[in-house]
Order: sequence, then C-alpha cells, then structure tokens
Amino acid sequence: MAGKRILSGMQPSGQLHLGNYHGALKNWVSMQDDFDCFFFIADWHSLTTLYEDPKLIKNFSFEVAVDWLSSGLDPEKCTLFLQSAIPEHAELHLILSMVVPVPWLERNPTYKEKQDEVKSVDMSSYGFLGYPVLQTADIVLYKAHAVPVGIDQVPHLELSREIIRRFNKLYQKKVFIEPDAKISDVPKLNGIDGRKMSKSYNNAIFLSDTEKQITKKVKAMLTDPARGLRTDPGDPDVCNLFPMHKIYSPKEMQAEIDSACRKAEIGCGDCKLKLVETLLESMRPKMENRKEIAAKPKEVDEIIHAGTEKARKVARATLQEAKTAMKIV
Ligand code: TRP
Ligand code: SF4
Repeated sequence: MAGKRILSGMQPSGQLHLGNYHGALKNWVSMQDDFDCFFFIADWHSLTTLYEDPKLIKNFSFEVAVDWLSSGLDPEKCTLFLQSAIPEHAELHLILSMVVPVPWLERNPTYKEKQDEVKSVDMSSYGFLGYPVLQTADIVLYKAHAVPVGIDQVPHLELSREIIRRFNKLYQKKVFIEPDAKISDVPKLNGIDGRKMSKSYNNAIFLSDTEKQITKKVKAMLTDPARGLRTDPGDPDVCNLFPMHKIYSPKEMQAEIDSACRKAEIGCGDCKLKLVETLLESMRPKMENRKEIAAKPKEVDEIIHAGTEKARKVARATLQEAKTAMKIV
C-alpha cells in the first residue's frame, strides 16, 4: 500500500483481550487499507518485565500473532514482524543510547509510575530506563510518519521526537523523521470487576475465550453497584456493563435498556444476557478464524518470518544511513 508509513508495536504478554482489541488492534486493522503499515511484536521490550521468566515470551508472541491474524490484520496488506529477529533494533538502540542524556529518561513519567505499580519484579534495570530509547529505534528504523498508540504512550513519543532532533542535529543530517502520535480514542472498557481491563487483574475477556467462558464472565460483571434489588432503578451512566452495550448492541437496544433500567423494568441478569448475545455475534467470526489459524502454527510462523525479512531490509538501510551520517562506516 502506498501512502504514509505507519508503525506500531505491542508487547507480547499472552492472549489479547477486548481492551487490547478496542484500544489498538481494531484501529490497526482499519488503517491497513490506507497506509503502508508495519506492525511488530515488541518481544525485547517485554523482557523489561519478564526477564526472570523469559521462556514465556516465545509462546506469548505466537499468541499475539494468532490474535492479530484472526482479528483481520492481513499480511497481504501490512508488514507483520518480530522485533528480536531484527538485530538492527538492538544496534540502533545502542547508538542512540550514546546520545540520550540519562535525565531525559529519568523524567519519563511512565518510568516512575511502572516502578511504583509493578511489585512482582525489580524494575530498576538499565534496560527498563532505556525502554523509550529502544522504542525510538523501533520507530525511526522504518521512517514512520505516524505511530498509533494509546494515550499512555504519549510521553514516550515526545521523548522519541527529542531524541530524533538531537541525533539529526548532532550529525547534521535529517536521517530520522519525527513521527506524530496518532492517539486512538478508546471507548471506556473496564474489566469484569470494574477496574481497567488487564491480564494482571484477572478481569479480562480474551479474544481466545470460548463462548462458555465469555458467557460466564459477562454474567459475573459488576453493574451499577447502587442497584441492590431487582426493583431498584439502575443508572446506566455509572454501570460497568453498559459501555459494552454501547460498543456491541444496536442503538435501539441501547435506548431500550437505558430507559428500562432507569425504571427498573429490566433486571441486570436479562441485560447481561442481551449483551452476551450481541457480543458473541460480533466475536464469532473472529473466534472461527482463530480456530483455523491456531491449528496451523507453521503458517503463522511463516507469515511473521516473511514480514520480518521485508522489514529487515528497511531497517538495514536506515541503520546504514545513520552510521554514514555519523561517519563511523
Ligand atoms: N511501548 C509500547 C506499548 O507498551 C510498545 C512499543 C514498543 C511500541 N515499541 C514501539 C509502540 C514502537 C509504538 C512504536 O504499548
Ligand atoms: Fe447496568 Fe443493565 Fe443493570 Fe442497568 S440493567 S444497571 S444497564 S446491567
């Protein structure tokens, strides 16, 4: 596909859930027709949190690839690749690390936030501090014009732009392009318990769940916490389930539920059953795809391998350009 180059990556942390789908993947799928898209599995980035158990990463990466393909990313339309199969990412990361002042990295808000948040593993590594430097290498190697990311990644993107300006200025050549962040407006989608949907909170609905699992999870969803009895009126505006209706159910159904809920004419149990129906209807085709794709792991590997070959050529050329500008080749 012609047009602007888009690049984005996802850390492999296992099966993807509806939050990942609506927050990123759905957008990626819609962009592949209009842009020259490169999407990659950021498996080296996931070492920042999984370094004590790195053997998990390989399978997680496979699961992510399967979820991508079953959700509609089409290898005929976009380039899908694996970060760690392209050593140019590591080499450029090293070069960039020489020009990035450490205080820039220490100021990064996600650096501090994650250190407070993640208690299960020591996040004080050198590699984690440099996470945005590796991310910058990921982006500039492909001369991406735009990077679709969630709002949480904005500080990283800003840092990338600073690093790029510094590099280009130091070596007096516009080798790298400053990318724009393309922020996706994510619908509010919480997990079963009302917190942000996350694998680590154990509150997620996965793209790989069975119909039975999905039904069970929807039935367990928190609703309007103030609605104690079936005869109490509810408030869809504070209900944790209603945003899912907004995504999955037809407008008329939404309006019906909204009004019936406020008059206590519908119980949460029935409301959940309606959601199960519309949710499954939307997920079924992807679930079917998933079954077929997961049954052919070799083909999945081949798709990623072919994408990686293609991406590597681009990465190699850009790295060469960078080293030429620095006069180190
Ligand atoms: N940091 C991103 C995330 O956790 C993943 C990522 C790594 C990425 N490298 C990237 C995203 C380059 C966009 C571009 O979501
Ligand atoms: Fe939420 Fe539906 Fe219950 Fe109303 S009826 S509180 S919208 S689950």
